[in-house]
Amino acid sequence: MEIRSVGVVGAGQMGNGIAHVMALAGYEVCLNDIDQGALDKALALITRNLDRQVSREKISAAERDTALARIRTSLSLRDVAQTDLVIEAATEREEVKHKIFEALLPDLKPETILTSNTSSISITRLASRTDRPERFMGFHFMNPVPVMQLVELIRGIATDKDTYESCLSVVERLGKTAASAEDFPAFIVNRILMPMINEAVYTLYEGVGNVNSIDQSMKLGANHPMGPLELADFIGLDTCLAIMNVLHEGLADTKYRPCPLLTKYVEAGWLGRKTQRGFYDYR
Ligand code: CAA
Repeated sequence: MEIRSVGVVGAGQMGNGIAHVMALAGYEVCLNDIDQGALDKALALITRNLDRQVSREKISAAERDTALARIRTSLSLRDVAQTDLVIEAATEREEVKHKIFEALLPDLKPETILTSNTSSISITRLASRTDRPERFMGFHFMNPVPVMQLVELIRGIATDKDTYESCLSVVERLGKTAASAEDFPAFIVNRILMPMINEAVYTLYEGVGNVNSIDQSMKLGANHPMGPLELADFIGLDTCLAIMNVLHEGLADTKYRPCPLLTKYVEAGWLGRKTQRGFYDYR
């Protein structure tokens, strides 16, 4: 099935990036959120990021304008249900995701493919509460979406071959590279990345280093573009903690125990860049 339109549920950090790259690749995009303010903010951010690409001569001004014209925003899931491919990019809470899929079901076209941008939650479990587990899979982008080359494609136990191939062709049209992952907690990227970030927080917690020395060590000593604490702030400490909890519960191994300092920061509402305070102070 050829995919022409894409519905993105959730206009946050990931959702706006997904809408941006989909529109640029020629898809008609319906960007949905429950909050008009979030939609307005997302459109402003997409415009700013497209402008940045124009100023760096990555795209032309005409391509920017066409991409923007392809994005419509909506507060109603009914509009999303009419698209060919739905990408759920709401908050990383399983119940919220189930509710979104359940709300979409009555209005969905039979052929629509449902996907989730979840960074860690079981695709098989999310799919099992829909009417189309064979047309359901994980479509996981990396942040910042317009810059990062990888998309993880995760098949649930029932995902069929056509669904996988349709999603793969979308990744190719985006000019990105797909990595195929099996449906186990946190898939590939976060299975490896999050324990490293968690270990960096333990390194801070135990006083082995301070925020600057830990980040500098990994930037200059391991050639990472960002230090692990800076990266945690960038991803969101709540998301990092949610992923560690999925690993800890799903794999039942103490090596995935979230660092108590990470939990404390989240409890304090210090979630990183989005709240202007995390391991660094952005105020
Ligand atoms: N939209 C469009 N372009 C953007 C952008 C955005 N949101 N953010 C950055 N860019 C572009 C810049 O315009 C710049 O383009 P040029 O190369 O043409 O100059 C390029 O990206 C680099 O940006 P900057 O020069 O501003 O900054 P930088 O060199 O410090 O790079 C970074 C920024 C790309 C974010 C880099 O620090 C990096 O790669 N960091 C690591 C990011 C990472 O690990 N992401 C994965 C997180 S894990 C995840 O997402 C999975 C999950 O489930 C949690």
